[in-house]
Amino acid sequence: MTLWYLARGSGLVLLAVLTVNLVMGIAIQGGWHPESWPRFAVQAVHRNLALLAVVLLTIHVVTIELDPFVPVGWWAALVPFVSPYRPFWLGLGTLSLDLMAAVVVTSLLRSHLRPRWWRVIHWLTYVSWPVAVLHSLGTGTDTKLTWVFGFELGCVGLVATTVIFRVARATRPRVAVRGVIMAAVAATPMAVLAWSAAGPLQSGWARQAGTPTTALASGAPASTGAGGQASLPAPFTARFVGSATSSAGGNGETITISGQVQGGVGGQLLVSLSASQLPDGTIAVDQGSVTYRPAPGSLVYTGRVVSVGPGSLIMRLAAGGGQSEPAELTISGPVPASSVSGLFYFGSAPAGGAGQDGGQDS
Ligand code: HEM
Repeated sequence: MTLWYLARGSGLVLLAVLTVNLVMGIAIQGGWHPESWPRFAVQAVHRNLALLAVVLLTIHVVTIELDPFVPVGWWAALVPFVSPYRPFWLGLGTLSLDLMAAVVVTSLLRSHLRPRWWRVIHWLTYVSWPVAVLHSLGTGTDTKLTWVFGFELGCVGLVATTVIFRVARATRPRVAVRGVIMAAVAATPMAVLAWSAAGPLQSGWARQAGTPTTALASGAPASTGAGGQASLPAPFTARFVGSATSSAGGNGETITISGQVQGGVGGQLLVSLSASQLPDGTIAVDQGSVTYRPAPGSLVYTGRVVSVGPGSLIMRLAAGGGQSEPAELTISGPVPASSVSGLFYFGSAPAGGAGQDGGQDS
């Protein structure tokens, strides 16, 4: 579970660092630097942020590779589009890594290169960054969380604004051409929003994006049934033991319930709920995402909370392209709490009606 958090957290922090550094790079190119800072200091921060990005990218890739639940493979971290897990969207991350590597290596060897060569390769940053953004939106399981999507869209907005300022202050090309460029850049955040609404924010995206039905755990055999179809664990009821934390953000809070399923096929369960406080002080759950990872070698189920009752969350979970399964988590006692326990039903319609919603989810 720690690897999973680290993989996702490092990805998001990496995107933030790359965004800030790109904005800084565009500003430096435009001759901007704060009054009180000497030029070399701005350049030193720019260089050190790039090196921080390399460290974060290393953490991101290594944790993804070590996490036994996401079948990626070491080759896929270097060669784009060969991963069995979401090949295209993960491949964009790899492509971005390769482009970034070219930029960082040539910057470290800058004194040995012709300035023109160095500049041409440095322009690859303008390709590497949007490619990384598309990877983040298309691969990340957290894209559906409002704050994560808002953050990713915010990165696009920040870079678009900086580019518009830069183009507006430039003297070349002609005014008309610059006007067209600025209009196109200004439309980008809207285009990203529209595409996300039709793609990554839709249920069923995981299957469309190429999450394999045989989610192998570090080479362990997948549980497959007849005809190569992933087989589902038999319905079971198990004890759940874990913790429930709450963090404030935006106009509400995020409640994270994570812990162990002790019984059935076992495994780890992670539920993330976006909740808001109503005027009367009660908490209303707006949306919830679920990741259930049974024992290594089995399938990873993801999905959403379809309804919330007193002490109970009813969910639909699906592994890869498989059919969605009903599940329910009941928790006794108050939430949040450092220690919570309850029952986890999976794979059959428990009393309470999980299974009314027949749709599939990502
Ligand atoms: C500059 C390059 C990269 C950036 C900026 C980046 C950034 C991100 C971000 C922001 C996420 C979303 C995290 C979330 O939703 O919580 C993500 C997810 C992911 N990235 Fe990357 N990434 C990069 C390169 C790579 C590479 C080279 C790999 C290959 C190993 C990779 C593998 C993944 C995977 C498997 C996920 C999905 C994790 C999940 O299910 O949430 N990334 N990345």
